[in-house]
Amino acid sequence: MRLKGKVAIVTGAAQGIGAKTAKVFAEEGAKVVVADYDAEGGKETAEAIKDTGAEAMFVQVDVSSLDAARDMVDETVKEYGRLDILVNNAGVTADTLLTKMTEEQWDKVIDVNLKGVFNCAKPATEQMLDQDSGGVILNASSVVGLYGNVGQTNYAATKFGVIGLTKTWSKELGPKGIRVNAVAPGFVETPMTDAVPDKVLDKMANQTPLKRLGDPEDIAKAYLYLASDEAKYVNGEVLSVDGGLVL
Ligand code: CAA
Ligand code: NAI
Repeated sequence: MRLKGKVAIVTGAAQGIGAKTAKVFAEEGAKVVVADYDAEGGKETAEAIKDTGAEAMFVQVDVSSLDAARDMVDETVKEYGRLDILVNNAGVTADTLLTKMTEEQWDKVIDVNLKGVFNCAKPATEQMLDQDSGGVILNASSVVGLYGNVGQTNYAATKFGVIGLTKTWSKELGPKGIRVNAVAPGFVETPMTDAVPDKVLDKMANQTPLKRLGDPEDIAKAYLYLASDEAKYVNGEVLSVDGGLVL
């Protein structure tokens, strides 16, 4: 029970990596806020957690809105009285080559993946500072945020950007007892990668020294480690969980 008594928000927890992370956190004793704009999937994740006897609730949020993110934190505190862990996991892709990319595709990915991280971290941090008992913020970067990737101008910009936020906040908030780290997954089997052409996925699996794509649990366990006291001296780090993949 590595997160016993902790209250955690996981954004983008309706499916994929976020849903698995919410479940793993609940298994380890956390009260989990399943935050997503997909109400159907989000409620399903929260119900699955409650069926195990753990505590969870669904909050609908569009992370690209600062007001909505603030409401998410307020609802969390209203229900559970505090906030200890924020996992900024919600993310989208809109892949195409630079010359074909529209302004809308650029804006959409920046609004969710980069501005969304700012929007959620700001009210969460204000709450953690008010509590004066520290906290943990974890951000979803990517192997694409370390090396770039053909067809992902917008996405790569956000995932590099998230590393900048992580490094900056680790310096600003470390002295207040709030640790900030990022996870950089490789290619992981989720609805997000369902949209990637099979030949690209095969190439990625082959290029990975461990010879397979990632599983959501591989990433959820990394978030668990970073959220727990086992990582109490880890701050400003970008943990690659990619089987050794280099793009
Ligand atoms: N390297 C070099 N050139 C490439 C390339 C690559 N990997 N992929 C495509 N190209 C080139 C082609 O050779 C072609 O060149 P010419 O026009 O000179 O012949 C040109 O790009 C156009 O190719 P397509 O006709 O295939 O172009 P398209 O517009 O239909 O698709 C693409 C291009 C958007 C890049 C598409 O191949 C694609 O979706 N690729 C996958 C992108 C990807 O890996 N996304 C990951 C999503 S999951 C995720 O993001 C999670 C995470 O963090 C890992
Ligand atoms: P996914 O597409 O399966 O799930 C993303 C979730 O985010 C969905 O439930 C979706 O409804 C939610 N979401 C999207 N926009 C939102 C918004 N504006 N407000 C609230 N919720 C929103 O994605 P996956 O694969 O689980 O990825 C999770 C995170 O991990 C993303 O940030 C992604 O960029 C990152 N990542 C994923 C990798 C992969 O290969 N699957 C690799 C590296 C990073």
